[in-house]
Amino acid sequence: MDCDNFPLAKDPQYIPLALGTSRLQGKQCIALIDRAINTGYRIIDTARSYKNETDIGLGVLSSGIERNRIFISTKIHLTEMEYQFALGAVGKSLTALHTDYIDLVFIHWPSVNIPLRETISALVELKQQKVIRHIGVSNFPLVYLRYALNNFSDISFIQIEHHPFFKEKQLFDYAVNNGLMIMSYRPTAMGQASLHSDIVNIASKVNATPHQVILKWQMSKLNNIPVCGITNKKHLQANLDAYRLSLSKSDLQVIDNIDNKARTMDRDYAPDWYTQSLPKAWD
Ligand SMILES: NC(=O)c1ccc[n+]([C@@H]2O[C@H](COP(=O)([O-])OP(=O)(O)OC[C@H]3O[C@@H](n4cnc5c(N)ncnc54)[C@H](OP(=O)(O)O)[C@@H]3O)[C@@H](O)[C@H]2O)c1
Repeated sequence: MDCDNFPLAKDPQYIPLALGTSRLQGKQCIALIDRAINTGYRIIDTARSYKNETDIGLGVLSSGIERNRIFISTKIHLTEMEYQFALGAVGKSLTALHTDYIDLVFIHWPSVNIPLRETISALVELKQQKVIRHIGVSNFPLVYLRYALNNFSDISFIQIEHHPFFKEKQLFDYAVNNGLMIMSYRPTAMGQASLHSDIVNIASKVNATPHQVILKWQMSKLNNIPVCGITNKKHLQANLDAYRLSLSKSDLQVIDNIDNKARTMDRDYAPDWYTQSLPKAWD
């Protein structure tokens, strides 16, 4: 898959920017999702662990926009990787989201204890039943991703941390060369990258905010959809407007050249990001 055949690409309002929802819940979540969709957002990213799928579903319903014009991604959690648990998890997401299909289901984190084939086979079965449209993996180190793509043909998305302080070029290129769409999470390093002097300088030159410059840099990368978290509705329009910014090749290069390797995400269950070996349970 690439940007041109992304399911919503033909919608004239489509902009390759997803709304990240990990810090949204309750009434604030419902209202923000409704407002975001009516401002022009078409891609909403959630996860079972965010505990807001019900609110997301209510927000989508309240927006009044047809379901088939919205792309919803969710993620099943580490405790749901066994075949039966994965089937059950997606069932719970469907109910919570008030929908009869989910556009994209990610494996949120790779499990080192459950064979990947167990989880993937549950997701493939649901895809064959048209309950889910796409399968993705998230937080997979390169060696895990290679294994996944070499062994299963149904994976079409990866979601990874990616921002000016953390660019995984090898993994990124591998994903693009293998036809995956990438969803870049923490695209601004939770706002930290907008303080970087190179980005501040570019922003003042092009009359935009540093945040917009970073999002445009993200959107200029092949097959890449940044997933930007927003809790303040004032940020909704500004981030969509980033799409229309024009950045020169040398501006993009300056951001490409910013010091790398400042990963913000870690979890005690996360595999070593640079591991060269696969979990024994996957044999
Ligand atoms: N797959 C995974 O394991 C994983 C892990 C982490 C995150 N994610 C996904 O990625 C999403 C984004 O991550 P994130 O929220 O941690 O980081 P982020 O998107 O890099 O940063 C969010 C911060 O940027 C601010 N912001 C947004 N638009 C702005 C603007 N126009 N001007 C100034 N500030 C602006 C937000 O402020 P306000 O809140 O005030 O609007 C918030 O403080 C999550 O919601 C989630 O969907 C996935």
